[in-house]
Amino acid sequence: MFKKLNKKKKNQPIESNSEIDLHNVPNHVAIIMDGNGRWAKQRKLPRIKGHYQGMQTIKKITKEASDLGIKYLTLYAFSTENWTRPKNEVNYIMNLPVNFLKTFLPELIENNVKVETIGFLKELPKATLEAIDKAKEKTKTNTGLKLIFAINYGGRAEIVHSVKSIYEKLSSEGSSSDQITEQMINEYLMTHSYPDPDLLIRTSGEQRISNFLIWQVSYSEFIFNEKFWPDFDKEELINCIKIYQSRQRRFGGL
Ligand code: IPE
Ligand code: IPE
Ligand code: MG
Repeated sequence: MFKKLNKKKKNQPIESNSEIDLHNVPNHVAIIMDGNGRWAKQRKLPRIKGHYQGMQTIKKITKEASDLGIKYLTLYAFSTENWTRPKNEVNYIMNLPVNFLKTFLPELIENNVKVETIGFLKELPKATLEAIDKAKEKTKTNTGLKLIFAINYGGRAEIVHSVKSIYEKLSSEGSSSDQITEQMINEYLMTHSYPDPDLLIRTSGEQRISNFLIWQVSYSEFIFNEKFWPDFDKEELINCIKIYQSRQRRFGGL
C-alpha cells in the first residue's frame, strides 16, 4: 500500500475552516448552473422539476451574493444550443421567468438588485421577453448587485455578432482593420459594460465551458463544483469564494 500524501480533498481551500476575507470577494462571479436534469432524474422526477428547483437556488444565491458584496453575478440560464432540447422542456424553461419573477421581483427590489441580460433576447417568446423587460424596468434604478441573466446566449454567436458590427462600422467609415483592438472587440460584446468575471463556477461536476463567456473568462479562476445546481447553496458559494481567495492570480506576469 502506498502512503497517501497530501490528502487534501479536491477543491478544498488550504485552511478549510478559515474565514472568508470580505475585502477580497470576487467582484464578478459567473455561474454555469448545470445539473437540473440529473437532480430530477436522481429523484425519479421529470426534468422540468429540476428546472423549477434550480429557480429556487437562483433566489438563494442571489441573496447571498448580494449580502457578500459581490457586484456582478452572471447566471447562464439558457444557451443558444439549448433550443435543440425537447420542445416541452424548452417551453417550460421559457415560462420560468414569467412565473418566477412574480414572487422574485419584489425580493429583488427589496435587496436593491438590478436585473440585466446578455443574449439574443429578440428570439425569445413574447411573454418571456415581457416578464424580463418588466424586471429590468422595475429594477433599473437599483444600485446594488447586478444580476445578469445569460438567456439565449452563446459565446461564439456573441463574437460573430461583434465582428459583424465592427465590420459595418469600419466599412461605413472607410476605416482600415488597423482600428481593431482588443478593447474595440470588448466594446462590441454584450458584456461591454461589465468587468470580466473573476470567478467562474460550474456545478454538476462537468468540467467544460459550453460556450459561456469564452472571450471574457481568459483570466478568470475556474471552480468545478460537484453539486447539482438545485443542491448548490450558501455554504457551497462561500466555499468557492474561499478557494478563489486561496489562489494566486498572475495574468501572465510573475
Ligand atoms: C442546466 O441543467 C439548465 C439548463 C441548461 C437550462 P441541465 O438541464 O443541463 O441539467 P443536466 O445537465 O441535464 O443534468
Ligand atoms: C450549459 O449547460 C448551459 C446552461 C447551464 C444554461 P448544458 O447542460 O447545456 O451544457 P452541455 O451540453 O452539458 O455542454
Ligand atoms: Mg447540463
